[in-house]
Formats: sequence, structure tokens, C-alpha cells
Amino acid sequence: MKKTVTSLDAFKEDQTEHKIDASRKLKVAIIGTGWIAGAHMQEYKQMPDVEVVAAADLIPDKASDFMKAWGYPDARCYLSCHELLENEPELDAVSICTYNTQHAPCAIDALEHGVNVLLEKPFTVTLDEALDVMRAEKKSGKILSIGFQPRFNPNMQMIKKIVESGELGKIYYIQTGGGRRRGIPTPYGTTFIEEKTAGIGAVGDIGCYSLDMVLNAVGYPRPLTVSGYKSNFFGTRPDYYPNHPEYASKFQVDDFAAAFIRLEGDIVLDFRIAWAMNMDTPGDTVILGTEGGLRIPSTECWNGSVGGPMKLYQEVCGQQTETVIPIIQTKDDLFDLKIRSFLDAIKNGTPSPVPSSEIIYNQAIIDGIIKSAQAGHEIAIEIPEI
Ligand SMILES: NC(=O)c1ccc[n+]([C@@H]2O[C@H](COP(=O)([O-])OP(=O)(O)OC[C@H]3O[C@@H](n4cnc5c(N)ncnc54)[C@H](O)[C@@H]3O)[C@@H](O)[C@H]2O)c1
Repeated sequence: MKKTVTSLDAFKEDQTEHKIDASRKLKVAIIGTGWIAGAHMQEYKQMPDVEVVAAADLIPDKASDFMKAWGYPDARCYLSCHELLENEPELDAVSICTYNTQHAPCAIDALEHGVNVLLEKPFTVTLDEALDVMRAEKKSGKILSIGFQPRFNPNMQMIKKIVESGELGKIYYIQTGGGRRRGIPTPYGTTFIEEKTAGIGAVGDIGCYSLDMVLNAVGYPRPLTVSGYKSNFFGTRPDYYPNHPEYASKFQVDDFAAAFIRLEGDIVLDFRIAWAMNMDTPGDTVILGTEGGLRIPSTECWNGSVGGPMKLYQEVCGQQTETVIPIIQTKDDLFDLKIRSFLDAIKNGTPSPVPSSEIIYNQAIIDGIIKSAQAGHEIAIEIPEI
């Protein structure tokens, strides 16, 4: 038996216009002016209550070229995060858009300077770094939000709503992950694949999104143990990069990872992620509960999309049913919502939209996968209270 629900809301224009109080302007700077910094700048430029006053990049002229290209020829530009923070005492906020290994030092530096931080994903490279960032956050009393834009997509939010509605009963098993057949991110160079800049590969870059999708839905239970595996069979092959065979010798991170994770509440999480593999997808996301099961067609998550309509499997009066959850169309821009929610939290003194208290569990799993893979056996995940 099959029933299809429709959502009238999917056809309604959003009636609620977000009113922005432009009487108080926030002074913002961008740290790291590479690929993703443009997405932040595009949104800041449209915010009537934001003044982008400065930028920093380690590469000479990169920050000033970036600011000129975005129409700020007079912006103050610096050669490091620290130099910028020392010279900009009136800053309200920074977007940290550096490569992964510079997330923790820049976030800590900014928080210690009393500046609110929007930090790009993944939170950090290691769990210890993330804990250090949280200590600085606590001491500063400032807002730290981590850049998980898929959370603002209504389809992603629907997953959480379904879990919270109780339709699935008690959740006991989750399968998630994602991947690409050939998709190591090297279009702009090697910062995603070298140890000194990336620190972690697919497991952090796209794995963090798959983890957030399901962990956020089920209320971020504490991870307890992990048995992890990682490999790098593709990134290390010169023939993978026909135009840049030299990248192979620079590839020092994972391009595939898998793990079996035990979560508080007697839930197990089966995870796999790939930048490259001989397969189109490692499978759909599946959430199994005692009263229902939810299938989320394979998705890479980062843009908030689901790979097709989700299906809810239940038993109704002895009949096995499948309910199709229609895809919710939205005109909302996820980066706009990610940045607006951060700015609103600063202005209204409300909690961080994507708080470290949740993402620390995401980071602990990533860290655990790497450590368990290196050890060759299951390990316990220890997360001290901050
Ligand atoms: N949310 C998303 O959809 C999304 C998309 C792409 C990348 N990202 C994340 O954004 C981050 C940056 O990615 P990218 O593709 O822009 O990388 P990138 O390598 O293109 O740019 C990073 C820039 O940061 C600069 N930098 C590093 N350390 C610095 C420091 N201490 N002070 C000043 N500048 C510094 C580098 O010189 C470089 O120009 C990564 O962590 C990545 O995971 C997020």
C-alpha cells in the first residue's frame, strides 16, 4: 500500500519578510580570501547592517585583490589573521574562511580579541583543537557559529521534524555518508589535500555534513566508541590528475573513510564517505526506528539538497506503507540564512545558530575515525566538559 502526502506549503511564497535593523552597523572582516570567502562576501555585501572593513590572507596581495574585485578598493588588508585582529580593535565579527588547519588558531585568536566568529566547516582538524576553541569561546562570551548551511534547508529540517514527531519511534540504527566517483577537490590547488593545510580529507570535508544531517536530526547524542577505516588509493595516483600529476605526491589525507560508531541512547551509526571510489554512491541515508524507517536518497548534503523525495516506511493496521515526502521547493539562499542567523545572534544576544556544543560531537567522531584507523581497532571517544 502506498500513500502520497502533498505539502501545500511547498507552493506558498514565503510571506514573512525579514526586517533588518540597519541603524546599528556591524563591522566585519574576512580571514582567508580563497574560494569560499566569495560566498561570504556576496552575502555581507547585501546586508544593510554590515560594513566589511578589512580582510587578511597569508598570500601577498590576495586579500587586497579580493577586496578590490568585490568593490572595496579602500578596505584595510593584512597578511595574517593575527595582524588584522591587532589592528582592527572595533571589529564585531569575522568570517574565518581559511583552510582547515588554520581554523583553530584563527578562531581562538579572534575570540581572544573579543570578536564574534563565523567559522567555516569542518569545525577543526582534531578534537583537541575544537576543545581549545570552545575554551576560548566560553572565556570570551562571544558567538561562535560553525558554517553548516544545509541546516537551513527546509528538506533537511524536515528530517529532524519527522524524527521529533515520534513517527519513527525509538531510533536504533542510522546509515549515512556520501561520496563521489571522482571528486577530489583540487580545482584551485592543493590546500584540500596537503597535511599542512587540510589536515583531514573527505572525512572532514564532506563527511562532516553527512554526520550533521543525521546527528542534528536525532538531537546530537554523544558518541561513545568508533571503529574507523581510511584509505587514499585515488589521491595518491599521478594518473588521477591528468593536468597535475605532481599533485599525487602532495596527497597526504584520506579520500575514503568508513566507520561504525556507537552513540548514547543505544544507537549505532554506520558511516562511509568518499571523494573518489569505483561506485556512484555508497548508499542512501537510512534512519531506522521501532515504529518507522526513513530513507533519504543519497545526497552530498552541502547544498542542502536531498537526492530525491524521502520515504517513510511504517506499518498501518498490519499493512506495510510507504509515504513519499515531497521535496520542499525554496527560494531561500542557504548562505544568506547562514550568515544572517549569525548576525542576528550577535545583534539580539541569542544563542549561536550552529553551536559548538553540538558540532564538538561531529568533530569527536571525525577525530575518532582517524585515530581508530591509525590504531587498527575500535577506540573509546572521550570528550571533556568545557
Ligand atoms: N560551506 C561550504 O560550502 C564550503 C565550501 C568550500 C569550502 N569550505 C571550507 O572553507 C575553508 C576554506 O576553503 P577554500 O576552498 O576557500 O580554501 P582556499 O585554500 O581556497 O582558501 C583559504 C585561504 O585562507 C588563507 N589563509 C590560511 N591561513 C590564514 C591565516 N592564518 N590568515 C589569513 N589567511 C589565511 C590562505 O592563504 C588561502 O588563500 C575550508 O575549511 C573548507 O572546508 C566550505
